[in-house]
Amino acid sequence: EDHFSENLPLKGKKFLITAGPTYEAIDPVRFIGNHSTGKMGYEIAEAAMKLGAEVTLVSGPTHLSIDEKKIDLIRVTSTRDMYEAVDSKFKETDVFIASAAVADYRPKIVASEKIKKADDSLSLELTKTEDVLASMGKKKEHQKLIGFALETNNEVENARNKLKKKNLDFIVLNSLNDKGAGFKTDTNKVSIIYPNLKKDFELKTKKEVAQDILNEIIELLNA
Ligand code: CTP
Ligand code: CA
Repeated sequence: EDHFSENLPLKGKKFLITAGPTYEAIDPVRFIGNHSTGKMGYEIAEAAMKLGAEVTLVSGPTHLSIDEKKIDLIRVTSTRDMYEAVDSKFKETDVFIASAAVADYRPKIVASEKIKKADDSLSLELTKTEDVLASMGKKKEHQKLIGFALETNNEVENARNKLKKKNLDFIVLNSLNDKGAGFKTDTNKVSIIYPNLKKDFELKTKKEVAQDILNEIIELLNA
């Protein structure tokens, strides 16, 4: 421990971060998933750790790696597993950041054998998954809660509705309209939305966006 670490702005703060997609099994070899890379959440985890936070990263399947000596990495596959990992850590958490692209529905029944090709059409009945962030919003006490949103229409209004509905401190709106933002890119253009305030940021690398988000959190924690 060097004496500089005493001055880190997130020293002693416990961060819980979700990242990546979740996969919902259809049968032993197939799943419902999405194209999230997990990059944004991993960047936030690393940046928070460097600012002195104790970080737990609950990650869905990704190709990314992180320094597991410095960050507590919990790997999960399904939404239920992500929910359980988050729920077990939430009470002791100071800041929960939900950057995962969670599957909204899972197959109602998971086939125990590989589904054979048969008729020309096949229907799968789906049922809602746990909403990890909204569930923590209901349990919120001292914790700060941050969510993400990606919308294609009425962006700000929809994001602000999520902010309220999930009991968040702020929500990060990813802009889809600008090229170079969103899934599968190294850059993002975001707005940070509070109940009565919106801050627009330039197109930046995800590493820089992570810094902007952590600056907002530091302000919140010091307010
Ligand atoms: N989220 C979550 N668990 C879910 C769904 C979403 O924790 N089952 C979190 C995401 O990590 C994100 C925020 O909630 O931080 C908003 O996710 P989003 O998919 O935009 O919102 P939904 O509530 O799922 O609504 P919809 O997909 O219909 O827009
Ligand atoms: Ca969703």
